[in-house]
Amino acid sequence: MPFLRNHWYVGAFAEEVGHEPLNRRMLDEPIVMYRSEAGEPIALSDVCPHKSAPLHMGVVHGDTLACPYHGLRFDPSGQCVHNPNFDRAIPKAARVRSYPVKERDGLLWIWMGERAKADTVTIPLCDLAQPSVTSRPVKGYIHVKAHYELLTDNLLDQSHGETLHPYLLKEGATSRMQFEVRQERDTVISDGLLPKEPITPILSGLWDRGPIDRADHRFIVTWNAPSYILLTISAYPPGSNSSEGVTGTNAHLLTPETAGSTHYFWIFARDSRLEDDPFDEELTAALNQTFVNEDRPILEWQQTYLSELGDLVKRHPLKADAGGVRARRVVERMLAAERQK
Ligand code: FES
Ligand SMILES: [Fe+2]
Repeated sequence: MPFLRNHWYVGAFAEEVGHEPLNRRMLDEPIVMYRSEAGEPIALSDVCPHKSAPLHMGVVHGDTLACPYHGLRFDPSGQCVHNPNFDRAIPKAARVRSYPVKERDGLLWIWMGERAKADTVTIPLCDLAQPSVTSRPVKGYIHVKAHYELLTDNLLDQSHGETLHPYLLKEGATSRMQFEVRQERDTVISDGLLPKEPITPILSGLWDRGPIDRADHRFIVTWNAPSYILLTISAYPPGSNSSEGVTGTNAHLLTPETAGSTHYFWIFARDSRLEDDPFDEELTAALNQTFVNEDRPILEWQQTYLSELGDLVKRHPLKADAGGVRARRVVERMLAAERQK
């Protein structure tokens, strides 16, 4: 299964990685992450070049990682620098792949493509995880046994909210929504506006601006390849604009694990209830209910049926699928370009 390789993918939240090695498969490659003595993140192939032992079960010594089986140690460049065995000589050819890794905005971004093309300027901006005077985040990680493009389809599709997520949309809302999908170069945007709607549960939870019965609701999903998705949800007094109301900005950062599974990192930053500690827990539980208990089972069953039945199943696209279709086309084109190089 091909993946776009010349991109930065989230390997972990920054706080997940310390001096204990963490293993995570990305784009079907087993990777181990740890930190140097100075705290710099390091990402290496997890497969020892001696006998394929899992390096993540080893121990960090200074800046090096020792294999748990025979103790070969590898430095941050992946080179073997220590051999405690009978021969003691360092086998120069023994090295593991080292991946460019950059810590930014509380995330560890790993470059999965050709090293010479790794440019940190292309790391997506995602500064939601840092609390500020105008923004307060909650976040989480979900493992989903489904291909990442099924998640992309799901996040760009605004029509499933009403059926699957009572916390997000009220009954009948989809038929009242003004909805369009547009594309600006390689960015796909799915845009929904619900004028004068009884305030929906999630936005009523965020609302802290005085009594309101009905609000204009705006849901904008912005997708960029391969799988960076930003969803903003706003409610504001009818006829005004989002700066008059409340907004939740939700990053969904998808990293393919295998052809049938995905690491799903999410961050939700709100611009309201900024001093409300207990609300963090309430909001996290509600978002987990949405992603983990409502979306995930559907996505995993889709994956099961697609894997088992493939093209035997007829598919009938609906209008709301336009975003996912466009995103897939962009990925296809980028994959073809990567193959040609
Ligand atoms: S398998 Fe790693 S040192 Fe032998
Ligand atoms: Fe959903």
